[in-house]
Amino acid sequence: MIRLVIQRLKSPILYPALLQVYKYLTYSKTTIICFELFYHTIRKEKKMRKKTIILLIILITVCTVAFTQEDADQGEKLYQLKCGRCHFAYAPQRYSLEEWKTIVQDMGSLAGLNQEKEEAILAYLGQESSKKEKDIPTSPVLGGYLYTEFFSSEASTDTFDLHYLNFNISGRLHERVSYKAEFELEHGGGGAEPPFVEQAYLDVWFLRNTALRIGAMLTPFNRFDEFHGPIENFLVTRPQMSREIGVSAWKEVGINLHGNIFVHDSFYLTYDVYAINGLGAGSRLRKSRHYRDNNDAKSLGFRLSGVIADRVEVGTSYYTGAWDENGDYNLNMFGVHLLSKFGDFSVFAEYSRSSSENPAPFEEGVGEGYFVQVSYLVADQFRPTIRYGTLDYLDNGDLLGRKPTDYDTKVLALAFNFYLTRTIVFKFEYDIIMEGDRKEAKDNNLLALQAAVRF
Ligand code: HEC
Repeated sequence: MIRLVIQRLKSPILYPALLQVYKYLTYSKTTIICFELFYHTIRKEKKMRKKTIILLIILITVCTVAFTQEDADQGEKLYQLKCGRCHFAYAPQRYSLEEWKTIVQDMGSLAGLNQEKEEAILAYLGQESSKKEKDIPTSPVLGGYLYTEFFSSEASTDTFDLHYLNFNISGRLHERVSYKAEFELEHGGGGAEPPFVEQAYLDVWFLRNTALRIGAMLTPFNRFDEFHGPIENFLVTRPQMSREIGVSAWKEVGINLHGNIFVHDSFYLTYDVYAINGLGAGSRLRKSRHYRDNNDAKSLGFRLSGVIADRVEVGTSYYTGAWDENGDYNLNMFGVHLLSKFGDFSVFAEYSRSSSENPAPFEEGVGEGYFVQVSYLVADQFRPTIRYGTLDYLDNGDLLGRKPTDYDTKVLALAFNFYLTRTIVFKFEYDIIMEGDRKEAKDNNLLALQAAVRF
């Protein structure tokens, strides 16, 4: 019936546009049911129902817009991402399509590719391999993500937040030189949060499996930082610990030697050794991300992980560097991480500890915490996730700017995601605050919703 009405509109622009909207609306029925169910089970107030409707309209608009952009350069993007991980991404012109078929089949399991991805990569390689020129720079691959969130809890005002709009450009200038630049607008941009560079670096592969990264990069401490994007992070919120220790979205300028050591067919080591400007004198560790140099002492660190059969990764990280202006007091951090996936079941866990030297009479500041996250992907579309996270923070402060900090948090987060496609996700999260800021007021748990797309 609606379709008929739409068809009556003969406008060449309006008709296809409305048809698209209608199609997605019907497709989104499952989403709507999920939203409703979720809301009714946890909150029964009328006030919330009205908000749900407003939210749904916004979410559907987001997904309609996102849908109009197909993944045109999927193949090239996947090739750079998946096949440039352990060694540099070989120029497509090096091999014929027939040879590439064998190579991609051999490497496919190492790179964790399914058939669809293998085909996308082969389509790209087939197209490029016949070109005559060698080592031509690839055209930059554009990407990015956008996510909008809604938070609701008793003690604070319910808010919508355009948390991130992120654009990135990556590509190769030469077979052995690749680059990535990532720009971000946080919380809607504007005066308080000007656009900033999240990352901007060159990777120079001087050996097949060894590269030097130069520029502004996310610091390789534990692994959550590389999973803070909305598709990689299965929840809306970040683990309490990762917000403070190891500091998610922690970028620094410096150099990082990284690479892989292949030990056996199904076991390799992957490492990072870096020198960066390092964390400075903020009121808390999170506030200590400097990006610029506050002293002459460079911070040093490493991360070393073992990867078994592309299913289990276990690693450890270490960071040390002076945090004060004069470079007299050190901040040390230690971390352990575990990532594993078996089919559609995945586990992610991290532990971190930080300790900072303080001038007398203040004692050493200590932050410590962990999280364990278990997730299961059902029918390629639904993902329930549970995460338990803690953080204990005790820093008596010092005379140089750090404020005394003392708090503990314990949170059990329950999430349910619905994937319209692999790059369009709607997340519903309910956090049970077991200890921390929100504990005093009863029933002051947190409801968080997120609509995210990656393009
Ligand atoms: C988990 C790490 C890993 C990933 C991911 C990976 N490779 Fe490899 N690749 C290797 C190793 C190790 C070798 C060396 C194997 C050997 O010499 O037998 C290699 C060798 C190659 C070679 C041969 C180079 C030569 O000189 O003979 C090509 C080409 C290649 N890989 C392409 C790819 C493609 C295409 C992908 C993505 C589908 C990919 N690789 C993903 C680890 C990886």
